Amino acid sequence: MAKGLDVGTMNILSSAQESSDTVFVQQRNSFVEIEYSDMAEQMLSRSDVLHIRKDDQVYVVGDDALNFANIFNEETRRPMQHGILSSEESSAIPMIKLITEQVVGEPDSPNERLYYSSPADPIDSELSTLYHEKTLESMLGDMGYDPEPINEGMAVIYSELADNDFTGLGVSFGAGMTNVCLAYYAVPVMTFSIARGGDWIDEQTAGATGTPVDKVTSIKEDDFALDFRTDVGGVEGALAIYYENLLDYVIENIAREVDEEDVEEGLDVPVVVTGGTSSPDGFEDLFADHLAGETVPFSISEVRSVDEPMYSVASGALVAARSEEDEETGSNGSTAESNDGSEPEAEAED
Ligand SMILES: Nc1ncnc2c1ncn2[C@@H]1O[C@H](COP(=O)(O)OP(=O)(O)OP(=O)(O)O)[C@@H](O)[C@H]1O
Ligand SMILES: [Mg+2]
Repeated sequence: MAKGLDVGTMNILSSAQESSDTVFVQQRNSFVEIEYSDMAEQMLSRSDVLHIRKDDQVYVVGDDALNFANIFNEETRRPMQHGILSSEESSAIPMIKLITEQVVGEPDSPNERLYYSSPADPIDSELSTLYHEKTLESMLGDMGYDPEPINEGMAVIYSELADNDFTGLGVSFGAGMTNVCLAYYAVPVMTFSIARGGDWIDEQTAGATGTPVDKVTSIKEDDFALDFRTDVGGVEGALAIYYENLLDYVIENIAREVDEEDVEEGLDVPVVVTGGTSSPDGFEDLFADHLAGETVPFSISEVRSVDEPMYSVASGALVAARSEEDEETGSNGSTAESNDGSEPEAEAED
């Protein structure tokens, strides 16, 4: 068997095929450091709290970090920032390792193939993804897998554009980044990232309204919609302003980057918007509206959103891993990996 893994700034997800279903396991990519105490001991004895103890300190990682942070009045910390391992977090690697081990589990067989997502280099910052990608590769290798990186935008094409011969523009709006990929018959023609996403919206909104970032994030994730009926001056009003600003920024960059590529004349492609940041109602329409106002050198047949935006990248990584596996074992005719120009088969179903 083979697996997929989405290593994101806010969420880490694995994907595996179990008979006809794709099964996802998800954890928040965050942790909190608390003092060891009787109360901590009591809470941690709940068997499923992911944690490690180091002397008098305990690190609670994943989904439970936020609860523990609230109870113990601590801030959560994040191993990644802007799509890659954070250079400002000294515990980044051991923490991400713990979360990843829990999410992906042991390999089903020695050297099981595992495709893990990796962002493209951002066009608007000096950040490089190389160290991040190589560190994950060796970490996953140590866990017994045979890891292979897959570009995050390309993973979106694999999961969402099977019905269009893996041709179109995929955009993953994450927490730390926005990843863009234009693919033509499963061949990536253009990939890039932008070092802004949901975290940027939260930070800007927090700054503008004087609200703590965590509070802004929960308001945004709760029931925020891009309907522009929200009151001016409140957190929701500010969220809408920065959402719109992020969309414009991404669309401008898409137009500029595509313009520099040799895009086939007469190309008519769908655009898929996904990732956690694309969740609010109204996102797809707002994106389509703003895209229509920009000049791009190809025509756009439609703008689509997806039902489960958090799962697209993990699911696409699995499609890539399984199609390569099928090709190697010869169990399927026309499957291929992403970089040789032939078509993969879309087998993963959500
Ligand atoms: N219902 C929601 N409404 C608005 N935003 C949401 C919602 N659910 C999640 N988000 C936001 O989506 C982002 C997380 O999305 P996702 O899991 O796709 O990112 P990631 O893969 O972890 O990050 P990246 O790809 O940038 O490394 C966060 O900014 C989160 O606040
Ligand atoms: Mg992501």
